[in-house]
Formats: sequence, C-alpha cells, structure tokens
Amino acid sequence: MKALDVTTPYQITDYNELSPLQQKLVDEAKDATFRAYAPYSKFKVGAAIALDNGEIIVGSNQENAAYPSGTCAERSACYYAHARYPEAKFTAIAVAARGTDDRWLTVPASPCGACRQALVEYETLAGHNVEVLLVGEKDIYIIPSVRALLPFAFTEF
Ligand code: THU
Repeated sequence: MKALDVTTPYQITDYNELSPLQQKLVDEAKDATFRAYAPYSKFKVGAAIALDNGEIIVGSNQENAAYPSGTCAERSACYYAHARYPEAKFTAIAVAARGTDDRWLTVPASPCGACRQALVEYETLAGHNVEVLLVGEKDIYIIPSVRALLPFAFTEF
C-alpha cells in the first residue's frame, strides 16, 4: 500500500499587495455582493471573473423560493462569462461575501463543491491555471488554480 497526500497551496495577503488587475477583480466581486438576491439565506456572495480578452464578468447569488433553484455567485458568473464570450479563456476569479450581519467575512468564503466542479471545467478549457482570490474583510487568500481546490476532479477530457 502507498500513502499519498494532496495539498492545497495558498497565500494570505492583503489588498495593497495585489496587482491592479487583482485589485479590480476584488473590487468587482465585492461590488457584486450588493446585487445578490438572497432574501432567504441573507448571505450575499459576489464573484468576478477576468477573461483573457480583457473583460471582467461578475455574478452574484440568486435565490428562489424553491430553494434548490437558486444559483451561487460563482456559477452565475462563469456560466454568463462563457455564454457571452465563448472563445475567451478565464484567467482569474475573485469571490467575496457578506454574512447575515452584512459584514465582510473575517475568514473568506470559498466556492462550494458544485461551483468548483463548474469552474474546473472552464480552467480545463482555458488550458492554464485560473487563479482564485478569496476575499475576506482584511485577508485575501490566493489559490493558484481551481484544480488545487478540487483534487480528483471529474473531467471527461
Ligand atoms: N453561495 C454562493 O453564492 N457561493 C458559494 O460558493 C457558496 C454559497 C450562496 C448560495 C446561497 O444563496 C447562499 O450563498 C447561502 O448558502
């Protein structure tokens, strides 16, 4: 038997240490939380995706009275990004969230399993790493790729 380990590398930094594009993505993700429709959970999530054509696409969680019909911010953003610019490759995604008290989270929220699965497919299509920025009140976590968040991802290609 062989014991192996999977690890997720990440850095913790703050806004001032980011590049201008990273800062813009963080700003857009935070801004998108104010357009969340979350009357049930009151947990407001925003996502911003940078494309290699220079566009930034944002999304927020959109809930529904029939709860499972709602969609997370990350999937709102990635599905719209690919619907709008099917040729463009993702380069990075930022995710920000405000809790039920409306405040930014101390420990940043991280994409749910379904969003990781959706994002990993766009990372595969891109053919390179898609950087993930998780935005907290002060700390920003930088994960080098979606795949690092989803070891043993299911892919058909
Ligand atoms: N949510 C997201 O938008 N992204 C995630 O990665 C996790 C959860 C949303 C779904 C729901 O509207 C609310 O946050 C509470 O779970």
